[in-house]
Amino acid sequence: RIPPGVVAPTDYEALARERLDPAAWAYFSGGAADELTLRRNRAAWEAWSLQPRVLRQLAGGHTRVELLGRTLAHPLLLAPIAYQRLAHADGEIGSACAAAAQEAGIVLSVQASTRMEDVARAVQPEAGRGPLWLQLYLQPDRGHTLELLRRAEAAGYEAIVLTVDAPTSGARDRERRAGYRLPPGIAAVNLAGMPQPAAVASVPGGSALFDGLLHAAPTWDDVAWLRSQTALPLLLKGVLHPDDARQAAALGVAGLVVSNHGGRTLDTAVSTAWALPRIREAVGDALPLLVDGGIRRGTDVLKAIALGARAVLVGRPYIHALAVAGALGVAHVLRLLRDELEIAMALTGCATLAEVTPELLVREMPGA
Ligand code: FNR
Repeated sequence: RIPPGVVAPTDYEALARERLDPAAWAYFSGGAADELTLRRNRAAWEAWSLQPRVLRQLAGGHTRVELLGRTLAHPLLLAPIAYQRLAHADGEIGSACAAAAQEAGIVLSVQASTRMEDVARAVQPEAGRGPLWLQLYLQPDRGHTLELLRRAEAAGYEAIVLTVDAPTSGARDRERRAGYRLPPGIAAVNLAGMPQPAAVASVPGGSALFDGLLHAAPTWDDVAWLRSQTALPLLLKGVLHPDDARQAAALGVAGLVVSNHGGRTLDTAVSTAWALPRIREAVGDALPLLVDGGIRRGTDVLKAIALGARAVLVGRPYIHALAVAGALGVAHVLRLLRDELEIAMALTGCATLAEVTPELLVREMPGA
């Protein structure tokens, strides 16, 4: 059930901390190294002030948005987050059902602790759900990547989100201090039988990382190859540089997710609210941009739209809710964010997301 007193999307955080064991808490909530990027993501949304308009026509307003040929009820999607059965027995199926009930999009992690076919079966399109996408990491063996792709196509996934910002994990100090390990019974079941790259003993003067793990690290050629292998739209997740965004657009990707992996890969990387408008400027208006990292309030969603995003991904807030209240918690967080977005639109004088433009945003605080 929903605990009393939970009224804001982040109200689940403290409760999740009490509920989860310390290692799982460190895994779900932590970032890389000093967690500067984790904090910067929040600070960057907060640094924008809204300059609202009044007395504009609001009747008939709505949060609908077009994305990859579909009309979505609102611009919220669940970010891909691995191993959700570690947070709650409802796991990925719980999150997916909650998203479906709230008409939100779902990006399932390829490192999910539930088979992608089982998730897809739980949220049939007839139920009026939002988009169902699969996040992929390129596997060292192209045959394995193709296997995952074919399974996603057969199961009814509507797009592939290739995560490109994590050829290796970040320096996850908080997790290591907490002694985080996956408990028995929770695994990346979709990758069963697919060897993952490992560090190797390197030659003197060599690098275990570069000679081992990164030996088969994906490149732009692999993105072009993947795109040639499927009719599904391909999005890249984890782009922060305008030149990379241009290169991706030239390769014909269907969209980009401006992301720093929630501050879990490169610490001190730029915040996503900073990168987003620069990438929008680089690629022009046509290419759909999504953004994630530190989106915690309806006003953050509004600011993301104003800075050029078509839609947003939400990460930790729904995982915290899942840990506390299972699928019901995830649905609740989505409902709260959607309600807050509507309030923010009404109070800035925007009846539709098309009216949410950069002119709403100002830098009020000196130096911000
Ligand atoms: C992630 N993220 C992630 N991204 C991805 O592409 N594949 C994955 O398997 C995971 N797994 C994962 C686990 C956990 C515990 C977290 C917190 C995050 C990153 C995720 O999709 C998203 O980019 C961030 O979580 C967004 O930031 P916020 O909303 O959590 O601040």
